[in-house]
Amino acid sequence: MRTGLPLSALAPMQDVTTLPFMRTISSCGAPDYFFTEYFRVHAHSRLESHILESITENETGRPIFAQLIGEDLDQMERTALALQQYPVAGIDLNMGCPAPKVYKKNVGGGLLRDPDKIDALLGRLRSVCRGLFTVKMRIGFESPEHFEAILDCINRHAVDLLSVHGRTVKEMYRGAVHYDFIRSAVQRSRCPVLANGNVTSAASAAAVIEYTGAAGVMIGRSAIRNPWIFRQLRETFEGDPVYQPRLADVRSYVDRLWENTRFVPSSEREDVSMEARHVARMKKFLNFVAQGVDAEGAFLHRMRRARTRAELFRTCDAFLVAGNRGGLPFADEPFAGLVARPTREGDAKSLSECAAATW
Ligand SMILES: Cc1cc2nc3c(=O)[nH]c(=O)nc-3n(C[C@H](O)[C@H](O)[C@H](O)COP(=O)(O)O)c2cc1C
Repeated sequence: MRTGLPLSALAPMQDVTTLPFMRTISSCGAPDYFFTEYFRVHAHSRLESHILESITENETGRPIFAQLIGEDLDQMERTALALQQYPVAGIDLNMGCPAPKVYKKNVGGGLLRDPDKIDALLGRLRSVCRGLFTVKMRIGFESPEHFEAILDCINRHAVDLLSVHGRTVKEMYRGAVHYDFIRSAVQRSRCPVLANGNVTSAASAAAVIEYTGAAGVMIGRSAIRNPWIFRQLRETFEGDPVYQPRLADVRSYVDRLWENTRFVPSSEREDVSMEARHVARMKKFLNFVAQGVDAEGAFLHRMRRARTRAELFRTCDAFLVAGNRGGLPFADEPFAGLVARPTREGDAKSLSECAAATW
């Protein structure tokens, strides 16, 4: 852990924060910490191999926390013990997922309705976590009525790091982030707090840290749009000149994403169907990237219509490098009004389902 400078973490994102994406982000400037997307925990759950590989093959040099979602004490214990056989920095508990199919099972954000359940779960996980034990939460379910009680519970169980997304579960991703609640969490918690929610740039991270007093920031969607954000954060805090990516750099990022997230086909036929699936998958990332390309959303619109690799890359070339565009700066902040839909965790489809899907 670096000392002195604010901390940074890539937010866990289902079907996004895979090993290939972590590699891609690291090539632009890694955060201090990674978190896996969540391992589902229930009576029949096994460690999902595609999530596990982000731990076993993590060569980014940065610690990675394994996130769990579940509520059964014995199964959570079993899974935390199993994960600690691998090189994890610690175990992270998801208390924020707002997808109805998740919270209706009283896991993720659903836990926030039940402080007694949280108490039992934190107690059990703390007792079996030999390394760090961390929590990621929203400020409440429908309202922040249990927020302070939950923070006290987190203190009682000596949680090592708390990430707070400053919205309730019912607010999903809508509306302003309640940074005042993150500030209260910082004041009440004994452990370091990472502020999460709509941190869109190094400048906005600095403002959020200044206002909340948080130990650092956790950034999700804006790191998909701008993979240099963690490098820019470090430079901002060290008082160094801040890297300004150009549209040509974004074009190289698209290449890296394509290469790193590609399947290796085993036949020509498979190659064709895989290309279509991969184009669909790339659009999920480009939905976010597009928010920094042009204010009118022309790139977003054209990119969404691409069906083949050639069409997709022709569009990227036209908007990112044609003429003298490559030298133009990539916007620091997302352009207002361009929506990368949907942005709900739990909505992310598996690769096999993703042909026509967007997050
Ligand atoms: C596609 C997607 C998938 C997500 N998956 C998870 C997840 O697996 N675990 C989790 O704790 N949060 C998940 N989140 C929530 C993010 O970690 C983060 O809290 C949220 O996006 C707010 O941060 P941001 O405004 O920087 O994106 C997900 C968010 C998105 C957009």
